[in-house]
Amino acid sequence: MIHLKTYWSARQKEVEKGLNQFLPKSTVKPKTMHESMRYSLFAGGKRLRPILALAAADVISGKHLNALPSACAVECIHTYSLVHDDLPCMDNDDFRRGKPTNHKVYGDGIAVLAGDALLTIAFEITAKTKETSRYSTADFIKELAFASGSQMLIAGQVGDIEAEGKKADFNQLRWIHERKTAALISSSIRLGAMSANATPAQLKALTTFGQNLGLAFQVVDDILDITQTTEKLGKSAGKDLKAEKSTYPALLGLEGAQKEAKRLTALSMKAIQPLGKKAEPLLAIADFMLSRES
Ligand code: IPE
Ligand code: IPE
Ligand code: MG
Ligand code: MG
Ligand code: MG
Repeated sequence: MIHLKTYWSARQKEVEKGLNQFLPKSTVKPKTMHESMRYSLFAGGKRLRPILALAAADVISGKHLNALPSACAVECIHTYSLVHDDLPCMDNDDFRRGKPTNHKVYGDGIAVLAGDALLTIAFEITAKTKETSRYSTADFIKELAFASGSQMLIAGQVGDIEAEGKKADFNQLRWIHERKTAALISSSIRLGAMSANATPAQLKALTTFGQNLGLAFQVVDDILDITQTTEKLGKSAGKDLKAEKSTYPALLGLEGAQKEAKRLTALSMKAIQPLGKKAEPLLAIADFMLSRES
């Protein structure tokens, strides 16, 4: 087995460097905007999505240079979605990544705009991906646009808001989680694989891996909201119950949700068995995501 900590931290360094290069410096006008974008982007996220993009490229081609723009782009989209998710008109959260939320520091107006700007720059960054024999630059842009658009990430956030105070059934909840979280996670993997010129069969296997891993990831997020402290999470714990959110533990109980996360992780791992030993980094990440504590 690979040593995941070493694998992770080497790629995390590349992501931090890439993001720093792709983002305008905080001295660029309007300074408040670039400071605010960088505040949330460099607040200390795990970088799961970009690392998945790089790992998918590693699995396909043994290298990941051409995956770096997509990797950084998905982290920009993810961070924008968090900045907006935390706004008073959405989840109304005061803490994120161990710090006060963007709107607490810069005000609601700048936070909305910082989210908009992070979303927009993601496409500028993705456009730096070199085309391969199977995928054009437009394919990368379309992939990211669909995963973050009104039928996927945003659809899930709409469903999440509309399910507040109601008891969503299993299929409705799965629909929400597949969109608000699994879509971008799965797309991160697809973008990395496409940048390494994956075959259609490889891409299909990795997509199934990503969809199941992404769903398991949100189930674990729901569980951690109940079982962990605010300090450990770097975001307020216990907020789902207070907001009467539809979550897996609310529907299946804590043990039922844990079982479901395990089942989904096993399904994700099974999907990439055909890729053989090369898939080790992704298997190690999936295993770690299930036992994570933050
Ligand atoms: C939190 O995502 C929001 C969800 C989609 C569950 P992460 O747990 O990946 O957050 P960061 O990036 O590490 O802050
Ligand atoms: C967040 O889901 C999903 C997106 C931001 C798209 P949550 O609302 O559960 O995420 P946290 O718990 O605030 O990180
Ligand atoms: Mg939310
Ligand atoms: Mg939230
Ligand atoms: Mg949550």
